[in-house]
Amino acid sequence: MFYSDTMQAGDGSILNPMTERRNFSLTPNSELITDSFLDQIRQQYRLNWHGIHGIAHWQRVRENGLRLASLNGANPKIIEYFAFTHDSQRQNDGYDPQHGARASQWIGEQPAGYFKLSQEEMKLLQDACRQHTGGVSHPNLSVMTCWDADRLDLMRVGIRPNPFYLCTSAAKNPQIIEWAIARSISGKAQGF
Ligand SMILES: [Fe+2]
Repeated sequence: MFYSDTMQAGDGSILNPMTERRNFSLTPNSELITDSFLDQIRQQYRLNWHGIHGIAHWQRVRENGLRLASLNGANPKIIEYFAFTHDSQRQNDGYDPQHGARASQWIGEQPAGYFKLSQEEMKLLQDACRQHTGGVSHPNLSVMTCWDADRLDLMRVGIRPNPFYLCTSAAKNPQIIEWAIARSISGKAQGF
């Protein structure tokens, strides 16, 4: 199943699939986000796995980010890892301003090879996590695409994504925002 197929439900006019650089499977069985990877994340996750910052949110962030990446060329590996780590070190589901910094630190503490990333990609992933709550600009497009992927899922908590707080032109597209909102409201995640 590809984005070009699934987007026809209610929002089939969003994109011409022929203009997208690549298609991504919607299956969560990513080459990077394996069952064992998720098991390890889950074992140390302190909060409700099915809560507002849990697995369904992470999967929508992944989908949001991969869709944006198909439009702007952001690094999909960084996006996938960001999706499943950026909130993984939260201590509560409310005000927790250091959770991004803790995620960045946790990533750096994992054994070599845990993340299938180059050193440069690792640094970008850690930057993306560390600054994701309030970051407004970053020289790297993949980092900003990670932030947008997260912010596009704000409607799950009743906050409409505001283009002013989105960093990339792909995410500011009104049709992309509406697509993301519909998925946030549905609460659906694939395969979990
Ligand atoms: Fe998040």
